[in-house]
Amino acid sequence: MKQLIEITAGKPIYGGKCLSEYEGRKVMLERALPGEKVLAYVKNKKSGYIEAVAKEILEKSVHRKESDCRYYPTCGGCKLRDVEYDYQAWIKEEVVKDCIRRIGKVTDCGMLPIIKCELHNNYRNKTEFTFSKLRYYTEEEKGLEEEGFTLGFHAPKFFSKAIDIERCHLQPDLTNRIYHALREKLKASGLEPYDVVKHTGFLRYLILRKTNAGEIMINLITKAKRFNDIKKVADEMCEEFPMIASFVNTINSGLASTAFGEESILIRGSETVIDTIGGLKFELSCNTFFQVNPEQVTKLYDKIIEFSEFNGSETVLDLYCGVGTISLYISHKVKKVVGFELVDNAVENARRNAELNGIKNCVFFTGDMMKLAKEGELFKEKYDIIITDPPRDGMHPKVVEALIGSGVPKIVYVSCNPSTFGRDVQLLEEGGYKLLKVQPVDMFPHTFHVETIGLLVKNN
Ligand SMILES: C[S@@+](CC[C@H](N)C(=O)[O-])C[C@H]1O[C@@H](n2cnc3c(N)ncnc32)[C@H](O)[C@@H]1O
Repeated sequence: MKQLIEITAGKPIYGGKCLSEYEGRKVMLERALPGEKVLAYVKNKKSGYIEAVAKEILEKSVHRKESDCRYYPTCGGCKLRDVEYDYQAWIKEEVVKDCIRRIGKVTDCGMLPIIKCELHNNYRNKTEFTFSKLRYYTEEEKGLEEEGFTLGFHAPKFFSKAIDIERCHLQPDLTNRIYHALREKLKASGLEPYDVVKHTGFLRYLILRKTNAGEIMINLITKAKRFNDIKKVADEMCEEFPMIASFVNTINSGLASTAFGEESILIRGSETVIDTIGGLKFELSCNTFFQVNPEQVTKLYDKIIEFSEFNGSETVLDLYCGVGTISLYISHKVKKVVGFELVDNAVENARRNAELNGIKNCVFFTGDMMKLAKEGELFKEKYDIIITDPPRDGMHPKVVEALIGSGVPKIVYVSCNPSTFGRDVQLLEEGGYKLLKVQPVDMFPHTFHVETIGLLVKNN
């Protein structure tokens, strides 16, 4: 029997939680809004704090509203769907402030108001679904006896189950329709979902990507190759949805539960699709990163330009450059950009994207940032500005060390995780940089995720 505690939620912190207190101990409280009095169950007792989850709201925040999604909060994709949008934005701003102060130990940086997102739904251009033999039933669905084939979202806390969904409000209508049709065709094909416990079965993940022009890329991740079976389904899908420009099958024969694999086979259409940002064209492969909210991405990149204050003579280092989006977006403002990125295909895309857009002052190289940093490969040229946009884990300490050692006068740090941003900022500040300005940007309404741009300059 889990211990229940009555508690009032404190300030918002990273991870969709509130920092609270119970009998003198810190509590990381999930599923509550600041100021709400709740009955919570104790999930974990750690040495310095307690983890708890609100079970019942005793005094509701005035910022709560009705959720319009029948899978909320079970599916776990949205964490703030029953919260007024302006309050969601305020929470994100407070979380960024908290990470900078508490983790980064910076108390006096210029924090700008968050850039809100006008489109609260249908904003995602990419969605990942999970196949499972085990269906997770929401309260409403209990009693349905329809085991055997599920394609939907991974059920939180049940790593082997998936929630079958009618539609996801975060993705456009077209993607919802394609998801439905593909699920029915795969179900009818007799191909088996993968079982993550026994490591048997075939169908593992599905990734749908929609470009601004309305083209669709389908990436079906399976345990093994079965070209003819998949081709049959792909042919039917392409007939029904002529906007499918690429149907790829990625093979992941390993045990790791990941939508990446050792090989990607083209089933129909072309290997890549073309998307756009601010008038530039970007060729994308199935396994390359691309910002998921096309509405907000130009606002994010324009802020990078504003923070950088380019004068046209700069040589810029673009770390974690993906398919070269930031490099190419800023290219007309600077003398030269050098980009580094781990994924081979992304670097190939980046080079091709420079060509596609007739841009000649950007070069791209493949490499693992930590290895490049350790081996002294990052600073063979002299740079005026570094733009760094790492994944959620932030930068490896060796990469931060290399940045500090380089003495480059200005760093523009783009982050999708305020807590690792805070951690890296602290190291950079200890290494002689000063965090001058911070801009949070909401790219992901209804979730707790937030993008942050920080401007750091080298102390004289
Ligand atoms: C947040 S994305 C940024 C991409 C790009 N700047 C953009 O805006 O589209 C992070 C990128 O870092 C790359 N990456 C992840 N780990 C890496 C590593 N160890 N070394 C180099 N690049 C890495 C990923 O492949 C991804 O393209």
